[in-house]
Formats: sequence, structure tokens, C-alpha cells
Amino acid sequence: TIIRRSDYRPPDWLVPAIALDFDLDPALTIVRATLSVTRNGDHDRPLRLDGDGLVPLEVKVDGTALAADDWHMEAGSLIIALSGAAHSIETLVELAPESNSKLMGLYASGGLLCTQCEAEGFRRITFFPDRPDVLSRYSVRLTADKARYPILLANGDPVDQGVLDDGRHWALWNDPFPKPCYLFALVAGDLACNADRFVTMSGREVQLGIWVREADLPRTAHAMQALKNSIAWDERVYGREYDLDVFNIVAVADFNFGAMENKGLNIFNSRYILADPETATDIDYDGVEGVVAHEYFHNWSGNRVTCRDWFQLSLKEGFTVFRDQNFSADMGSHAVKRIEDVRILRAAQFQEDSGPLAHPIRPESYMEISNFYTATIYNKGAEIIRMMALMLGAERFRAGSDLYFDRHDGQAATCEDFVVAMEEGGGIDLTQFRRWYEQAGTPHVRALLRHDAATGTVDLDLQQSIPPTPGQPDKQPMAIPLRVALFDPATGTHHGDELLMLTEAQQNVRFEGFAAPPILSINRGFSAPVIVETNRSQDDLAFLSARDDDPFARYEAMQQLMVNVLVGAIAGQPVDDAAVVAAVRNTISDPLLDPAFVAEAIRLPSEAYLGDQMAVVDPDAIHAARESLQRRIGADLAPLWRDMHSRTKANGFSLSPAAKGARKLRNAALHYLVASGAEDGPAIAFAQFHEADNMTERQAALATLANGTSMERDAAIDIFYNRYGHDALTLDKWFQTQAFALHPDTVDQVEELGRHKAFTLSNPNRVRSLYGAFSGNQWAFHHRSGKGYQLVADCIIALDKRNPQTAARLVPPLGRWKRFDADRAALMRAQLSRILAQPGLSKDVTEQASKSLE
Ligand code: ARG
Ligand code: ZN
Repeated sequence: TIIRRSDYRPPDWLVPAIALDFDLDPALTIVRATLSVTRNGDHDRPLRLDGDGLVPLEVKVDGTALAADDWHMEAGSLIIALSGAAHSIETLVELAPESNSKLMGLYASGGLLCTQCEAEGFRRITFFPDRPDVLSRYSVRLTADKARYPILLANGDPVDQGVLDDGRHWALWNDPFPKPCYLFALVAGDLACNADRFVTMSGREVQLGIWVREADLPRTAHAMQALKNSIAWDERVYGREYDLDVFNIVAVADFNFGAMENKGLNIFNSRYILADPETATDIDYDGVEGVVAHEYFHNWSGNRVTCRDWFQLSLKEGFTVFRDQNFSADMGSHAVKRIEDVRILRAAQFQEDSGPLAHPIRPESYMEISNFYTATIYNKGAEIIRMMALMLGAERFRAGSDLYFDRHDGQAATCEDFVVAMEEGGGIDLTQFRRWYEQAGTPHVRALLRHDAATGTVDLDLQQSIPPTPGQPDKQPMAIPLRVALFDPATGTHHGDELLMLTEAQQNVRFEGFAAPPILSINRGFSAPVIVETNRSQDDLAFLSARDDDPFARYEAMQQLMVNVLVGAIAGQPVDDAAVVAAVRNTISDPLLDPAFVAEAIRLPSEAYLGDQMAVVDPDAIHAARESLQRRIGADLAPLWRDMHSRTKANGFSLSPAAKGARKLRNAALHYLVASGAEDGPAIAFAQFHEADNMTERQAALATLANGTSMERDAAIDIFYNRYGHDALTLDKWFQTQAFALHPDTVDQVEELGRHKAFTLSNPNRVRSLYGAFSGNQWAFHHRSGKGYQLVADCIIALDKRNPQTAARLVPPLGRWKRFDADRAALMRAQLSRILAQPGLSKDVTEQASKSLE
């Protein structure tokens, strides 16, 4: 069945309070729930409590067991006829957490018992109106074996605890803030705590706890620092204070997503908590910081103000991603963070927006909401908030967010509520801007500059078009904020940055006073999530790559310079790669640049990004052209790479921005050095692999070697496995690096790795590290034999039986068949059909595969 946004109706019954009593055991957990329900409005409809796989062992109304004909089951839900306006409902169910392989609801992971309820997992724990606009006060009692589960955690504040005489103990938790059930959580286990405290801006003391297995305690320092920084940042930047006496985070090894913002009890995929130099790369460290912040920020953008229904998901996710991006930028480099975020947006969201699964940030319909935790909802959603912040400026944006939080505190709100708060608080008319919530597809903007020497005028002709997407053949023009500057090539300066609003399909902007033709810098800072096409020459781009004072625009000019050369080479045209070599040389020789920025700027566009520039993706031609340009840059600048590689070797490990920048540059230098074909390349990489005192350099050396066919490659892969095979997160890197390798035999190696004794379908991180990474490896995944498609389809089919949510996430790469040649398209479609033909296929995979085939 299809759920539509337009079908929203307020709940028939509210649940102001719920008391839950868990008797925890991995094989048999007993859940007793007592709900105070009140009739919402004047109607005579029965109470409908969602359930998924639950059997009601007892149903009582106002203390009396119900007769069999006063209730019935309907598609898993419990329907109770009620006569009054308010009742107390009691239900009893039994669960078997250890056999819950979907990792939704209450499940077991590495000796722990934990929960994941968003979006619709609470109905797998107890009967309840499982929708975000039903907010309740929770009181939760947990009982469990004390030796096996010494720690018992739930949302809110701890109230009481005690020991029973049968070796069991109990704890009582109370959450004073009404919340939707998707924010419910509990954890029971043998956990150690990194304990700290934070005094909030009004002087309240909060106990902070990060709970992990004892052995992992030394790996929690970075997460704790990130948490304290996040709390302080939200006070300073948004005026938002934390509101409970405790804030707990628990790391679990088996988790479908990154993390979850349960009120006062965040539950994390351990990969976003645990970090030390030996096992975590700088990217991992940044991931920990960003996700800790993201989940913390949800306490206001998500929990205090939650979503009315799941069509509003971007209300909390887009806004919270925007908040965590800005936090991370403040903790490190704004320029580099923006480049990284745009790279992710282009790699994940632009692809989604141009394929069969394209949807607006506020979708109109879905079969399975889990499929809508997408780059569009999250990352494009963040870009939409960013554009509002840009148009308003910091102060007025803050006035808008203050109004939003104050007005909707304690409510389940809509995206429209947010936009209205921005309009009223910020003083802006967002009528046309609202189309960003309605229309899917990435807008294309053509920007052509015309100069008239006689009058000194410059005309910027702007044109926008939004490609058709499923269900949306025709589009209306969007309101697109474009930051623009015109550079004088003689002086290298410009007369300031202007914010142009492109609101029509076609629009002209005139500038006066240019004796000579200026050079256009447009979409500076990536002010709008659009694809810009310009008539700038390679010389113009080379100029901007050296002179633009907006770091994003400078990076972008460099990328476009490279893209133009590569697209030419792929098309078999004679190309001038000397311009690229010169721009790279110029960038690495500029002493004023931040090394982390340099490392970003000199990196060639990914094979997938090059594919996006082509009408029909040719993975082999793309790979060949990119390799050849890489070799040329490597060889022509070989002495510089050697020098840079030795110059950036650090003496001792540090996480300072300078040290991280140096590692990034060192790895880039190594990469080009090896790509140059220098005979000693693999030996240098192997030495780095061997000597590194940190995972950033070790993993980069391994990845560089994995792309080649040297003897050092096999040695490094074996050594890495022997050294880290016992540590799950590091072993994931071993799988991932091989699956992502640009190596002619990657397909066969992935097949073998799928049979490796350390591979398992029961851990989502492991699945993603092999098949997720592989399907992002364009050259290997799209191997003309079609074997890559088959491997991923096999995995989807096998995984769907135990964990449909994670299985469904592997489907989208197969849905991009329209972008490839007829042979590949047919092979991809055949795998989608094979998946769809499986008996008992989940709703999750059915939705993704059937839409992908259309
Ligand atoms: N709200 C969580 C986060 O963004 C993600 C929950 C994912 N759940 C899901 N069913 N996809 O931090
Ligand atoms: Zn989130």
C-alpha cells in the first residue's frame, strides 16, 4: 500500500502517558505497557494500536481483562472498541530480542540488548499508535539479570533502582518531556562508562556518559570532546540549552544506520564513537565529531520540536545536517568542510535526483518510510536551509530559528511551519522558494557572459531548467540564490560579491564599467545546489583556480578544468593536459594555501562524477582517461611529489588541523608518486604503510597499493588482515579498501571476499564495507560481464530475508541503468527483475527495486 502526504489526519486517540515494564532476557522478554488514552475530537472510532509481529497475551481496559469480542487484530494491529473519553489500556507481549535480525525494535548486539525505533520500530516492541504526532510522557521500568546486564538505561532521568533476591535487579527511568515513540530507547548490558560533566549556560549540571565495552573505553575521548563542544556550540549559535540531568550515549556494533537521537539516550553505530590513532583515520575522527553533534543537535531540532508525520522528515534531518555541517566547519576549516559536503551531495544526492528514485525533500508518497532516509532528505534538505540562511543573513536567520523553536516547542511540526517561522522571524517572502520542497530534480543553470567593449557593459544571461522526474514531468522555475563576482583578469581583483536571485526561467543581469571582459565566478560557496554550465574558457578556469578568493569557487574552477580535459579525452579528442599540470603545480607551490585545501583541489574528479558529465556513462573509457591524466600529473611533477611526501612526514601524532592537513597532503603526494609509474613507487607506499603511526597514512598507503598490481600489494593486504583482523571496525576497512580498489580483478576479489570467513551478513557495517563500497566503485561494479550486478543482487536477495532495511539500501546503484549502454542496462534490469521475482520479498526491497525498473 502507498501512504500519501495528502491523506494526513490527526490521530483519533492521544496517549498523554505510558508506563512500560520490561522483564529483559535475550530469548524471552516480557513487555507490559499501560497507556492512558484520550479520545481526540468528537468521533466514535475505535482505538487502533499498531503492532508488528506482536501477539497480545493480555488486553485490559481500565483494569479489566477484555472479552474476546471487544478487541480484534487487523494486519498486526490491535483494535479496541472504547466507549468513554479516557481509558487506561494494558497489554502484555513477549519478544525474542536474540532472534530479531532486522535490528528494528528490541534486539541483541554483542551481548547487549538495545533498541532502534525510528521510524516504525516501536510497534515491534509494544502495541501503540506508532506515529510521530502522538506525544507521551514515558515512565520505564527495566528488570534483568544483574551479572549479565549490570547497566540498565532508558530515556530521561534515572529515578530509582534496586536489587531482587533472584540475582536480578531493576531500574526506573522517567522522561519528563512528552515525546513520540520513535524516540523511545533502552539499553541493557555490561558496559563501561566514560563519565564527564557539562554546566549549561543557565548553570545546570549535566552528567555525560559514553557507554561502551570496557576494552573500548580508551577509544571514547574524541567523542566526549565532540559532545561537549556540541553542547557549547548549540548554546552559543542557536541559544539552545540541554534540558535533562543526564545525557547518555551507547555504542553498539550492529546498527542499521549511523546513530539515533533517542531523548537523553543516543544509540550509536560504534563506528561513530570509537576512535584512536591506531585504528581511525582522520575522516573517521571527523565522522565521530559530526555524528555526535548531529544527534546532540536533534535534541532541539527533532525532539523538542518533532515531525508531524514522516513526510516532514527533512524538517528535522535537513535542518540538523545543516547544523552539524556548520558546527564541523567551526571546529575545523570552513573551506574544506564545504568542499567535502558538496562532494558528498554531488556523489549521492545528484545521482538520486537524476534517477528513478528521485523525490522532493518533502515526498508526496511512500511504501516504506525507511527507504526515504536519503541523501535528498538529509543533504539536499540541508542545502535548502543553507539557502534560507544565506538569503536572510546570520542575524535574521537566527531570529527565524528562535521563533521556530519557541513557537513549536513540544509540538509535532511541519516543513511549512519552519518556512513560516523564517518568513515571520526573518522578514522574507518565501512563496516561490517553497518550490524547493515540492519539486525533485537538480536544477541546471546556464550562465553566459557577454561583454560589449564599446559601452563597457557586461550581460550575464541566466537560464534555468529542471529535468523531469518520476511523477513530475513539468517544473516551475525555482528561486535560486547565486553568489557571483566578476574578476578583472589584469588586476586579479573583483568589485565585491553579489547575491543574485534567479527566479525566472530566463533572466538577464547587466553590469556596467568593464573596459575589458571580466571572468565570471559563479555559485560561489556553492550558494545553491544546482548544476552550473558556463562558457568559460580553460584559461578563465586556470585564472580562477589560481586567483579566486572564494575557496569553494577556486576549488570548483580547478575541478572544472580537469573535467573539461577528461571529458575531451574520453570522447577521444586531442586534449591539452598541460593546463591541468600547470594548475596543479601552481596550487601545490602556493605557500599561502591551507594544505588540506591543496589536497582537495589537486584531487582528480572521481570516475563517478565524470560519468555524471556524460550522456552515456562509459566506465572503461573514463577509467582509462583518468588514469592517464593521473600518470601525467604524477610524472611531470615527480620531484615535487617526492619532496612533498618527505616534507609532510610528521614527528609524532597530533589531531591539530595542521597535522591533519599535512597527512592529507602526504597521502595525495604518495598517490601521485605511485601513479607516476616510478619504479620505487610501491616500495615508498609500502614503507609508509609499514612505518605509519596512524591509520590515516596506513590506510591511504594500502589503498594506493590496492589500485596497482605490485608484490607489495598482496603483502600489505595480508599484513593488514593479520594485524587488525580481531577489530571489527578496522577489518571493515580491509574489506572496503579492496572493494573500492581500481584494480582490474576487483569484481573477482569481491566475489571471494563475500565467501571470506570474516564476512557476515549479520553486521550491517560489514555488508556496507564490502558491497556498499563495491557498488560505489564505478569501473569495477559496471564490469561489462555484468558480474558486479549479479554479486550485489545475490547479496540483496540473501540479506533481505534477515535485514530488509539494509538490503534495500543496496538497490539504488542497480537502478541507474538508464545512464549506461544498452548491454549494461539490460544486465542491470535483469538483476532487478530477478530480485523482484523472489518469493516473500520485503516491502523495503520491493519498493526500491520496482521503482528502479520503471
Ligand atoms: N534519525 C537518525 C539520524 O538521522 C536516523 C534514523 C534512521 N532510521 C531509519 N529508519 N532510516 O540521526
Ligand atoms: Zn538525523
